[in-house]
Amino acid sequence: MLVHLRELVEEAAAREYAVPAFNVFGYEDTIAVVRAAEQLNAPVILAANSAAIKHMPLPYLAPILLRAARESRVPVCVHLDHGYDPETIQAAIEMGFTSVMYDGSQLPLDENISRTLEIVKLAKARGVSVEAEVGSVGYSDPSLGMKHEFSDPGEVARFVGETGVDAVAVSVGSVHRMEEQAASIQFDRLESIQKQVDTPLVIHGSTGIQDHDLRRLAATRVGKINIGTALRMAFGKKLREQLQDDPGLFDRIQLFRQSMTAVTDTAIDKYNNLGFGGTQ
Ligand code: G3H
Ligand code: ZN
Repeated sequence: MLVHLRELVEEAAAREYAVPAFNVFGYEDTIAVVRAAEQLNAPVILAANSAAIKHMPLPYLAPILLRAARESRVPVCVHLDHGYDPETIQAAIEMGFTSVMYDGSQLPLDENISRTLEIVKLAKARGVSVEAEVGSVGYSDPSLGMKHEFSDPGEVARFVGETGVDAVAVSVGSVHRMEEQAASIQFDRLESIQKQVDTPLVIHGSTGIQDHDLRRLAATRVGKINIGTALRMAFGKKLREQLQDDPGLFDRIQLFRQSMTAVTDTAIDKYNNLGFGGTQ
């Protein structure tokens, strides 16, 4: 069933689990992720980022995500990840997304607040949830030129007070697109943020977070954990293995079948560290 972000993260923040937001890029990984959620009877967030939309424009991608959500027997939120401009956010809302992220994390705080407020007005008029980011979760590739700045607890408190967002992403040590689980999470910083902020928290760049830290984060006010690279790696690795094992293979349906299973398995493994499945 299709649900809004707000309801998912509020409960997850209050309880000892976090809902994974998996980045998906089309039919195969969407179905693979929903299969994982259904196997565990767990909620899931399908996250479409700008790379996904560039590859498969919203009029194609949105119906896939929304249909998978509506047909599923578990709660599924369809979310725009890292929206940088009001036009894309508006388009996602019009397509039926139930949640959008406005990413003003590269901007000075005052500008981030004023732009986020505009998005909150736009989204709330349609009953759509809003996530925003304070501080900046950087990227492992420095050539992208994105800043990395830890979140200041006072600034997070001011931001949520002035914008009324449903969830706020914070920078406490994770870094986007790490291929190894080697991030160093600042639990002290997270604790200071939690003392001042009731809004559910979001962690980006969670592929790089070690399993034991994922488990610790799930038990905090973090309600949403964004995972992208781990699934892309699982899909690509399984494709590579199949082609190496049998260089004569060419049928995409046959190739994708096993890669989809690899994505489902990886998603289940992440769930097991987020308070679902094995650890429930
Ligand atoms: O917004 C998406 C996530 O932050 C994904 O990060 O690819 O490093 O897991 P990741
Ligand atoms: Zn992110």
